[in-house]
Amino acid sequence: MSSQQEQQEQHERIGKYFLSRTRAYGKLILFGEHFVVYKVPALVGAVAAYTDCECEFTGGTGLEVVDNRPSVPGYKAEKKDEADEAINLVLSHFKLNPAEKGMKLTFGGDLCAVSGIGASAAQVVSLARAINFADPRGLTEEQINAAGYEGEKGYHGTPSGIDNTAATFGGVLRFQRTDGDPIFIKKKLPNPIRIVYASTGITASTTKVVGDVRAKKDADPIWFDNLLSQYLELVAKGEAAIDAGDMPTLGACLNENHTLCQQLTVSCKELDDLVDIARQAGAIGAKMSGTGRGGLMLALTPTVELQDAVAEALLKVAPMVWKTSFA
Ligand code: MEV
Repeated sequence: MSSQQEQQEQHERIGKYFLSRTRAYGKLILFGEHFVVYKVPALVGAVAAYTDCECEFTGGTGLEVVDNRPSVPGYKAEKKDEADEAINLVLSHFKLNPAEKGMKLTFGGDLCAVSGIGASAAQVVSLARAINFADPRGLTEEQINAAGYEGEKGYHGTPSGIDNTAATFGGVLRFQRTDGDPIFIKKKLPNPIRIVYASTGITASTTKVVGDVRAKKDADPIWFDNLLSQYLELVAKGEAAIDAGDMPTLGACLNENHTLCQQLTVSCKELDDLVDIARQAGAIGAKMSGTGRGGLMLALTPTVELQDAVAEALLKVAPMVWKTSFA
């Protein structure tokens, strides 16, 4: 091998090493999308797929953003303005001004940008990590998470912080927003939780759907409080099932959470159809996950065989299907 080739390979290895340090994970909400905005506990699992980011100071002026993330058709175009705003929020959080010091940001990784998976949070958290490498600041994970939270505001004005926290810390978390810093703990799982998740292919606006729920809550607080108290019982039961590795109870709780999402009016026909198909194919629980009105659903499939069977059934109708496991 020529020394030029060796140097090139070493360069690529170093590049990959740095990129691996900027990873931020996608997430699936097991319990509590929308309710979590109102400072009640929710449960979320980070998926293994990640976004990474390379941040270079160009020596010139201006900001160049290269977005190489895989995505469902239409996602990047629809989210472009929000993504620009989110990136700018993270840069100003770190007092970086590309008009004075030029920057090039390259986003990549294997996380498919699709509504429901926390792609926006993974993007801004990976950006915070990349800045911390390019312009070392010795940031703690909490500070990375806080920068990600600022960025999330570009995608959606009042994020609960659940997505950026899962993107930063990984694992399965119980998360609760508070008036100050969020409270979250990493769950220890007695058994892996096998999941299939599928996209409707529909890109949803979190700002709009969260805003609609808030308007309905304000118009009818009794209706909302009733759903919230059902949810509070459910999330406690769901968490206990996770702690005990009790998959049948967990599945039943996921089904109940889907019903609550329907009552909140955040599900839609496309999600309901995928949930039905997953259950018919043997999933022991299934629900929409994330913002809703498009986006994703997930199904609980405790064995590899069931995971394969449910994924196969969903693949016949859903534009994209993935398998993951929380451990
Ligand atoms: C989006 O992934 C989850 C929502 O609850 C919004 C939020 O928590 O910020 C819909």
